[in-house]
Amino acid sequence: MDYLVLLLCLHLLWGLIQALSFVGTRVQRTPSNLPPGRRPLPLIGNLLELGKLPHKSLARLARTYGPIMKLQLGFVTTVVISSPALAKEILRTHDAIFVSRTIPDTITAHNHDQLGLPWLPISPLFRKLRKMYNSHLLSNTKLDSNQQLRSMKVEELVCYVRRCAHSGDAIDIGEAAFRTSLNSLSNTVFSLDMTCPSNSAKELKELVWQIMAEVGKPNLADYFPVLKKTDPQGLKRRTELCFGEMFDIFDVLIKKRWQLRMQSGSVTSNDVLDALLDVVEEKSEDMDISLVKHLLLDFFVAGTETTSSTLEWAMAELLCNSEKLSRAQTELHEVIGKGNRMEEVDIPRLPYLQAIVKETFRLHPPFPLLLPRKSEADTQVGGFTIPKGAQVLINAWAIGRDPSIWVNPNEFVPERFLGSDIDLRGSNFELVPFGGGRRSCPGLPLATRMLHLKLGSLINAFNWRLEDGVTPETMNMEDKFGVSVQRAQPLKVVALPA
Ligand code: HEM
Repeated sequence: MDYLVLLLCLHLLWGLIQALSFVGTRVQRTPSNLPPGRRPLPLIGNLLELGKLPHKSLARLARTYGPIMKLQLGFVTTVVISSPALAKEILRTHDAIFVSRTIPDTITAHNHDQLGLPWLPISPLFRKLRKMYNSHLLSNTKLDSNQQLRSMKVEELVCYVRRCAHSGDAIDIGEAAFRTSLNSLSNTVFSLDMTCPSNSAKELKELVWQIMAEVGKPNLADYFPVLKKTDPQGLKRRTELCFGEMFDIFDVLIKKRWQLRMQSGSVTSNDVLDALLDVVEEKSEDMDISLVKHLLLDFFVAGTETTSSTLEWAMAELLCNSEKLSRAQTELHEVIGKGNRMEEVDIPRLPYLQAIVKETFRLHPPFPLLLPRKSEADTQVGGFTIPKGAQVLINAWAIGRDPSIWVNPNEFVPERFLGSDIDLRGSNFELVPFGGGRRSCPGLPLATRMLHLKLGSLINAFNWRLEDGVTPETMNMEDKFGVSVQRAQPLKVVALPA
């Protein structure tokens, strides 16, 4: 089907190009000294080279063409960066030039590209929203004040696993972690669970999955702008519907909260929604309800799947490396006490658990190519010119597995981070799962708290084994590409009382 769509699109394009040649096309100025890369085919350029797992295909190509290479993806000139030194040039040295992004067509649904933080160019609105994230929503003080909300959700996950441990049922750990991520986030934002049917949560969970699926699919309209109007794969139309349904859910919750706030003597919830409504009410930041809804959309789409798939990978790696699992359990038993409840404040006292999380991000960054950046001017990087308007991708997956940086790069060795000062904040360019510079992920403090707490709680409370018939040797460790990279095959595990 996709192949037929591709052929139809190419046919349309060919017609258009011929028509343009009558009218006279604009000749584009091409700077000299472009990065090297494989010669593109007519029209489709290097699109077919991306394959099903673009981060891996691009890593392979970089072995031939080097850490900076150029590809022509349909009409989009793309430069791929695959070394820490060059990632630093993009994310720090030339931060001002590479600060904006290329916009996927699906993201223009409901004008999200003009109201959602990840896609805005640097502007007063961008600064306002970043400030909102950093100071009102995800600052350490704010997160400290609502950590109990997340702690309760993790305790519920532990209770669920305990029930499965008693019945001997195998657990789909990614699914369970996704539910906990969604509920941790919905409690941080709305002080309620969103995966219980009475709260339309079933809908929200399915909507988040569907948005990830639609936005993650390769979209011909992104590579051939002439197709944007027709949306031949229907991806934008379906994203439009999902965004609309999500906004309807938010509308109901916001309306209820306004009513509650208006009742005299009502106590505020100290959650993200209250913080946002305070800002709307103060009118100091020019924040309106439409902006609040777009911000909430980003919160749920960016914050759920990323953390749950990382937890699933961490568990998969630990189950393949039982001595690392034992070492982590020993640390937890010594610091927290066997089976005792872990809290976010315990994280700094658990260096091995932190090393496991870093090692998981090194091998399995949820956004292996980060989010795309765009060049605002012809710029010299690594001795080549990145032309103005080019899309720039940083292959964090390739950097994480580069043998010139890491010893035994494909092995899961958390010990490499013990005593090392490499952190996840984007200042060490060999490990950049959250990006870097002005556009780095503002969700990092929340994501890392959720991840350490969930993983630590699960491995402190239980012993684990793979489901019957699966061994570390036969386990499928392949991934599949979407908005974020997930395991190709869900991890099924059996918990045993510790
Ligand atoms: C494991 C979890 C997560 C990972 C690995 C991750 C990764 C990323 C990456 C790579 C970027 C692009 C950075 C760049 O261009 O330099 C990003 C941006 C962003 N992330 Fe996250 N993220 C995670 C969780 C979250 C959470 C929990 C939230 C919010 C609740 C969030 C909200 C955002 C937003 C709003 C942006 C856009 C920032 C901007 O463009 O200025 N993320 N994230």
